[in-house]
Amino acid sequence: MTEMTAVNRAVNEATPVKPAHLPDAQTVTEVHHWTDRLFSFRVTRPKSLRFRSGEFVMIGLLGDNGKPLLRAYSIASPAWDEELEFYSIKVQDGPLTSRLQHIQPGDEIILRPKPVGTLVHDALLPGKRIWFFATGTGFAPFASLLREPETYEKYDQVIITHTCREVAELEYGRRLVESLKDDPLIGELVGDKVLYYPTTTREQSPKMGRITTLLTDGTVFRDLGIDPMSPETDRAMVCGSLGFNKDLKDVLESFGLREGANSDPKEYVVEKAFVG
Ligand SMILES: Cc1cc2nc3c(=O)[nH]c(=O)nc-3n(C[C@H](O)[C@H](O)[C@H](O)COP(=O)(O)OP(=O)(O)OC[C@H]3O[C@@H](n4cnc5c(N)ncnc54)[C@H](O)[C@@H]3O)c2cc1C
Ligand SMILES: NC(=O)c1ccc[n+]([C@@H]2O[C@H](COP(=O)([O-])OP(=O)(O)OC[C@H]3O[C@@H](n4cnc5c(N)ncnc54)[C@H](OP(=O)(O)O)[C@@H]3O)[C@@H](O)[C@H]2O)c1
Repeated sequence: MTEMTAVNRAVNEATPVKPAHLPDAQTVTEVHHWTDRLFSFRVTRPKSLRFRSGEFVMIGLLGDNGKPLLRAYSIASPAWDEELEFYSIKVQDGPLTSRLQHIQPGDEIILRPKPVGTLVHDALLPGKRIWFFATGTGFAPFASLLREPETYEKYDQVIITHTCREVAELEYGRRLVESLKDDPLIGELVGDKVLYYPTTTREQSPKMGRITTLLTDGTVFRDLGIDPMSPETDRAMVCGSLGFNKDLKDVLESFGLREGANSDPKEYVVEKAFVG
């Protein structure tokens, strides 16, 4: 027996058997719980992974049957970040998030390195203002795009609206928006370009109401002191529930904006924040 094998055997006998590495494993580096329904976490980034800010990937854990249990997740960090960030719901009886909510730094998750999605700059024609419309965890792709230099290179004004039921559900987004100006990498580019418009619907806050209503009756434009939307100047990205996406599409179309895609850029694009 060589000396090295003896050392290996001694180590193996002393330490409990670790399960084999997960397929496409990445290691959790940070976890932050925002409410009893929301948390964010960061993981190592596969060296080969290239993505466009705003895209999503499949992530998950190994299921009880030994097969990967995967769900779609928007990457909340920008394309230049050396780690990956995610912003997640905790569904108490959800197959994945009932378990994912318990991850700790050092744990492994599965991450399939195949990014896709429609909330990308390439899917929009050039414009002057870009609107990011989010509800709930639909903020995630915009957490990426708000930290993406291209957003500020392409647009004079960046308007992010975030609507949640309760005030505490706005906190991840509020802190992220507040941090933009001081960000050493993009702070200068951001300047005064970002307008932040948070609203709640079921708990008292300074601005209440569904964003669809506030756009239709003109409140948003009055509050922000800006012109109403027009297809000449405005571009939009939308991420929320199916019902929200549908209703907001109707509002955007009423302003004359048309839905685009990667292969056919136009004035707005839409992505589901979740199904159901
Ligand atoms: C393109 C795309 C991108 C997504 N990006 C994210 C993301 O960045 N962060 C994230 O948390 N989820 C995201 N999701 C939803 C995610 O894929 C899972 O549904 C979620 O992680 C819950 O998984 P689960 O197995 O616990 O429950 P599931 O069986 O998947 O869902 C159970 C039920 O919980 C509700 N639900 C699921 N996800 C959400 C949510 N995000 N917000 C509110 N209610 C929800 C729905 O009513 C759903 O029917 C995305 C979904 C799609 C299609
Ligand atoms: N958020 C919570 O505290 C909570 C707690 C327990 C369970 N849940 C469950 O979790 C699921 C998702 O809840 P969620 O709060 O994350 O997401 P959500 O139901 O999509 O609501 C998020 C925000 O979007 C608004 N909204 C929803 N549909 C809209 C539309 N068609 N047009 C304009 N605005 C719209 C909501 O306003 P309205 O309030 O006016 O709908 C709310 O402010 C639901 O099934 C819910 O029952 C949520």
